Amino acid sequence: MCGIVGYVGNRQVSQILLDGLHQLEYRGYDSAGIAVANDGEIAIRKTAGRVTDLDKLLEANPVNGSLGIGHTRWATHGETTDVNSHPHIGGNGEVVVVHNGVIENYQSLRTSLTELGYVFRTTTDTEVAAHLVAHHLEERIKLGDDADDVETCIRAVQLSIAKFKGTYGLGVIFQNFPNLLIAARCGSPLVIGIGQGEFFLASDASPLVGYTEKVVYLQDHEMAILTPHTFDLLHRDTGQQSPSIQTIDQVSSDSDLGDYPHYMLKEIFEQPTTVQNAMRGRLDLDEATAVFGGLNLDPQQLRRVDRIVLTACGTSWHAGLVGEYLLEEFTRIPVEVEYASELRYRNPPQTDTTMVFAITQSGETADTLAAMRECKRKGHPTLAICNVVGSTIAREADGGIYLHAGPEIGVASTKAFTSQVMVLTLLALYLGRMRHLSYQAGQRMIDKLQQIPQQIEKALECYDVVKDISPKYAHCNNYLYLGRLYNFPVALEGALKLKEISYIHAEGYPAAEMKHGPIALIEEETPSVFVIPRGSIYPKVMSNLEEVKARKGPVIAIACEGDEKIAEMADDVIYVPEVDEFLQPLITAIPLQLLAYQIALLRGCNVDRPRNLAKSVTVE
Ligand code: AGP
Repeated sequence: MCGIVGYVGNRQVSQILLDGLHQLEYRGYDSAGIAVANDGEIAIRKTAGRVTDLDKLLEANPVNGSLGIGHTRWATHGETTDVNSHPHIGGNGEVVVVHNGVIENYQSLRTSLTELGYVFRTTTDTEVAAHLVAHHLEERIKLGDDADDVETCIRAVQLSIAKFKGTYGLGVIFQNFPNLLIAARCGSPLVIGIGQGEFFLASDASPLVGYTEKVVYLQDHEMAILTPHTFDLLHRDTGQQSPSIQTIDQVSSDSDLGDYPHYMLKEIFEQPTTVQNAMRGRLDLDEATAVFGGLNLDPQQLRRVDRIVLTACGTSWHAGLVGEYLLEEFTRIPVEVEYASELRYRNPPQTDTTMVFAITQSGETADTLAAMRECKRKGHPTLAICNVVGSTIAREADGGIYLHAGPEIGVASTKAFTSQVMVLTLLALYLGRMRHLSYQAGQRMIDKLQQIPQQIEKALECYDVVKDISPKYAHCNNYLYLGRLYNFPVALEGALKLKEISYIHAEGYPAAEMKHGPIALIEEETPSVFVIPRGSIYPKVMSNLEEVKARKGPVIAIACEGDEKIAEMADDVIYVPEVDEFLQPLITAIPLQLLAYQIALLRGCNVDRPRNLAKSVTVE
């Protein structure tokens, strides 16, 4: 996934583009660049590396102008080099393009364009788009279209995108049109910001905060034609549209780093508040149940649901796994948790009373979006559990539940995970109270839920212990994460956190499963992290822990305060408050997030921008 920005208006554009790219860097950060139109020329500044590297490039070699586009990249085609970074030139510079997405048929288009004499400087699919627009522009002019008419540019872009297979969010500017910015969307998000005598383009609304409150989210197959004083919206099939103008929240403080060294640490410590926000206004104490405003399904429809599918990717899939245990325990409805990338092609048999939830922080994950569309196409009520208001999945779902966790900037998801688990717990309460859950059971759940924010606060106090023990394990290159029942998904999540920010190989398993193979991996340099709070199967997990110790494997235990037995067995113990089993993931995830963070720091890794990753994967 990549970040795109654009501007046309009356201000100097470079700093607007650079500030916007900093806001979008979480979407991709292996290279960055801008193109600025001025006096009939388009100047390009681009470089491999971070947006800060681009800042330095512009300081040394500034560009002036009030029309421009910018891009921060997560490479899909072509290595991360200066040349492959965006923007890309079409023809001999008469067209310049930035692109987010994947043009799947770019090779065949490249071959045709090469045969027409176009010279390729890069190995990217985006350069194909740039040359194709330049080709159609030249062709339209040869066919008699007016070279000075904006319509000719519009036609050239329409003819080009009609040939694309795959996904794109495009920003296009033209050398001979110093006041024209064209944007087109299919599968990759784009939002237009509406100012006074100016328009903004971005991949999401964050760069627009402080400039405008009025935005238009482009839909698939829509194209925006922007000049300082005009905004035309065209749909591929239905032509001229009237824009649906929405208002964005101007609060930008959420995305400030504050006193924290990294967004990830800030977001870990935000969790008492964000979990509270996920609960806010959703507890009905009188009826001992939960309330949701956006499911858009009446009780009769919900009562008929006899199967639930939760589909997601990565951390959101782990939250879905917790949701499976919760929903099956409290509603007795069978639940299937599906990797979205599998579900979209697997075609499982589903009853017509199956309800589908897409779980996603960003609301833009391509696989999750595709899986949701596949389920919608089959007529299932398809809802979203999502953090980003106005995101594609949130807008296309039949209804849903927002996390209200605020922007999650750190690539490694933390507060979104616990907010997703909280929402799924509330959903289990809500659907359970429509079925077999008694008033008293509902009251008890609510009482326990209301204590969670301060228990997370208390769990965060383990950070000092995490800092103390991490140096002992930071050099290890293989870890096992082990837990059972509600803590099995937590083990998976803890392993993913460590993998993605410290680049250490870590595997999560149900603790008992270790005997069926992974125990062969146990050795003195392979720590096993046991998630072993008190509970119904504590003795069983303890047995698994002893099996590891018997083979001289070091053990880090996540255990309940006051558990002295564990201290005799484990090499190191990280204590957390004791809560009911169904609430344990909200607590036991905390030390695992902090452990991954601390070890990554000790290994000198870039915690907020880990290599090869992006915050939201909007490509297959
Ligand atoms: C989590 O730490 C990862 N960054 C990644 O697995 C993420 O959870 C996954 O890409 C799904 O993203 P989404 O929740 O925005 O759909």
